[in-house]
Amino acid sequence: RPGTTARVPLPVAELHLHVEGALGPDLLRSFARLNGFGTAFDGTDPEPEFVDLQSFLDRRDGDLAVLRTEEDFHELGAAYLRAARAAGVVRAESFIDPMVHLQRGVPVEAVMRGFGSAFAEARATGMSCDLIVCFTRDLGAEAAEATLDAVLPFREHFIGVGLDSAEVGWPPSLFRDVFARAAADGLRLVAHAGEEGGPDYVREALDVLHVERIDHGLRAMEDAELMARIVDERIALTVCPLSNVALRAVPRMEDHPLFAMLELGARVTVSSDDPAYFGGQVDANLEALRAAGATEAQLETLARNSFDAAFVDEAERRALT
Ligand code: HPA
Ligand code: ZN
Repeated sequence: RPGTTARVPLPVAELHLHVEGALGPDLLRSFARLNGFGTAFDGTDPEPEFVDLQSFLDRRDGDLAVLRTEEDFHELGAAYLRAARAAGVVRAESFIDPMVHLQRGVPVEAVMRGFGSAFAEARATGMSCDLIVCFTRDLGAEAAEATLDAVLPFREHFIGVGLDSAEVGWPPSLFRDVFARAAADGLRLVAHAGEEGGPDYVREALDVLHVERIDHGLRAMEDAELMARIVDERIALTVCPLSNVALRAVPRMEDHPLFAMLELGARVTVSSDDPAYFGGQVDANLEALRAAGATEAQLETLARNSFDAAFVDEAERRALT
């Protein structure tokens, strides 16, 4: 990119990242060859156009067909953590979706052991990272209960649960019982809300699921009282700018509600969501905000917020920053 100078990436905690969304075109092709798909994925458009969340989920589900074995999940997890480190991530709290893989016949054990061992290896080399298991909300509450049962034998591999996939029509309140059970097991709680769903989805995630952070949270901005509460209670919003523009939750980066959220004093953080699909890792997201007018002070606030919102204790927090 002419005219830009290489910057040392700003150290951040990345709190909203789906490891499956780090499956880039090179890895996709190599898994495809390895697992008997030949060259079927060679022509896959590396920078597809999306019109909404569902159009992304459909494309991603097609790509995920190439992941079959525990080793595949291990390799994908390790590849994400390497790329994240290079992008300035010093703490990763990363989502995985075991149910999406089980749906296509991959056992939960392969997913949990593969991703789990990749994260454990990175921890052993000094990276601070943990997994959060997401319930795939459009499979319903019973599937979420089954997911929790299926992953609890791998409890050492994850620290919390989340809620992702198609949002509208799948309000948080449907998942009250499974979140209560996860909380009773000592798991941390987050949920996607307010990406395509309205502010009522954000309220439910807070009041019914008792989540500690909101993933996205954009449409909370339609409700001033709700935003006042989010500011007061210091509830973190894990915002993904490139994703929001790519999936048309936000028309242009310059119009991103993140700027107004910062003005209100909300604890906004920045993450990459699905970096292989939306134009890059967290450093690219920060760069896109800078290009859209974010000041150095705002970027530093976003970085500080990410550590304040991370699920680490004071001692670990000090070691990170
Ligand atoms: N929203 C909901 N589900 C997802 C996303 C997202 O941004 N990315 C991957 N799964
Ligand atoms: Zn997401």
